[in-house]
Amino acid sequence: MSKKRLLTGLQPSGDLHIGNYFGVLKPFVDQYEQYESFLMVADYHALTSKKDSENLRQNIFNIVRSYIAVGVDPKKAVIFKQSDVPEHTELAWIFNCLVSVPFLMQAHSYKDKVAKGLEANAGLFTYPMLMAADILLYDTDVVPVGEDQRQHIEYTREAAAKFNHAFGESFKEPKELILKGVGVVPGTDGQKMSKSYGNTIPLFGTKDEIAKTVMSVVTDSSNERPENVYAIHKLFRPEAELAMLYEEKKGKYKDLKEELIEDVEKYVAPMRKRYEKITESEVKKVLKEGAKRAQKLASAKMKEVRQKVGVAL
Ligand code: ADP
Ligand code: TRP
Repeated sequence: MSKKRLLTGLQPSGDLHIGNYFGVLKPFVDQYEQYESFLMVADYHALTSKKDSENLRQNIFNIVRSYIAVGVDPKKAVIFKQSDVPEHTELAWIFNCLVSVPFLMQAHSYKDKVAKGLEANAGLFTYPMLMAADILLYDTDVVPVGEDQRQHIEYTREAAAKFNHAFGESFKEPKELILKGVGVVPGTDGQKMSKSYGNTIPLFGTKDEIAKTVMSVVTDSSNERPENVYAIHKLFRPEAELAMLYEEKKGKYKDLKEELIEDVEKYVAPMRKRYEKITESEVKKVLKEGAKRAQKLASAKMKEVRQKVGVAL
């Protein structure tokens, strides 16, 4: 029996943080060998917010470095860039013609981004249909993401169902994989860790950068246990060990933060070392190979889709 398919992607829109790692990358790394796996760089999604080409280019290199550094073997997963496979934008167009404006208007992610001051460009608005295309082109079974992406996977199922209803059974409805306890990793202020809130702990930061962000974790003196520190700490050390440590250092917030800095450093140092060694030419090679593998599947699927919608003569 052939393996089921796993696919996820991240936007190359800034440095990755430990929320991205525990919410998406680690679940991917832990499971990807049991599946036929795809790890995408969502560069056209990033274009909805990024207009600095040099910065985007650098972010693309860095995100592929991150994928490899966290433990994804490019021989065992297809690591590729969305823009290298034009079938993604082509299929997104077809989905855009199947869903209504009021349906897209209900997307929380769109509403949140606009509320935060992001330009409401048409790409941002139709973003969920490009994401649906990313997933459905490959008959994906499982999509590991953080909690904030749950609705986008629902939208993806809806796009598949709408297409299947209009043109006949063609797409498989995928499932999200959102792990309990890491669906929303809190940031230094206790809110969801997010690059747009300035509350992140960088995944590949130097020890000094890690120390600076950990020291800035907001502590609430009304509680014996500094909850914001603990919530991050439990990602790095088993809770049974932490219970002892937090009992021993009760009320000593600075000591506990120093323990956390050491634990984060111990965890990320080997990954950071790998990250720093990966060259731009290695990244290009990985993406070239990935594009070839993804393209083969995507072009076969689109051939079928063009027939079904009636544009292939
Ligand atoms: P950010 O919120 O920093 O802009 P993205 O929106 O680029 O992050 O998210 C990339 C992926 O990482 C998504 O799958 C998202 O669900 C996941 N993710 C982001 N922040 C967190 C978090 N704090 N906890 C868990 N997963 C997260
Ligand atoms: N929308 C996702 C995010 O912001 C990124 C993404 C694009 C994605 N295409 C995808 C995630 C396909 C999973 C599957 O994080």
